Amino acid sequence: MSDLSRIGVAIDASLLNKFDDLISERGYTNRSEAFRDLIRDELVRHDWEKPEVPVVGTVTLVYDHHVRQLSERLTGLQHDHHHNILSTLHVHLDHDNCLEVLVVKGKAGEVRKIADALLSTKGVKHGRLTLTTTGAGL
Ligand code: NI
Repeated sequence: MSDLSRIGVAIDASLLNKFDDLISERGYTNRSEAFRDLIRDELVRHDWEKPEVPVVGTVTLVYDHHVRQLSERLTGLQHDHHHNILSTLHVHLDHDNCLEVLVVKGKAGEVRKIADALLSTKGVKHGRLTLTTTGAGL
C-alpha cells in the first residue's frame, strides 16, 4: 500500500458500537478495512452517476421462456450490444423459468441503457443491474 495516511475520526459512541456490531457480523477483523471499503463503495457509486465513466457490471434476468418471442427479443437486444456484453450465463431453473446473468462493460450511461432495455422487456419477471468498478483508479 502506498502513502498510508492515519486519520482520527470523532464519532458518537453508540454509533461506533452499532458500526462495530455490523462489521463484526460481516466478518471484518478490523475497523480500518471496513472504513476503507465504505469509502471505496461511495467512490464507485459516485462514478456510476457520471454517464461517461467506464464501469463493469452484471445484469440478472429471470423470465419464462414460453412467453412468445421473449427469448428472441432478449437475444436480439444482446446482439445489438455485443461490444458491451462480455459473457452470458444461462441457467434453466425449471420447466418454465430461465435465469440469465450478463457481464456488461462500457460507459455507465450505455450500460444503464442496455440494462433498462432488457429489464423492461415484457415478460421479464425480475431483474437487476449491479454495477461495480473496473478497478482502475482505486
Ligand atoms: Ni432456459
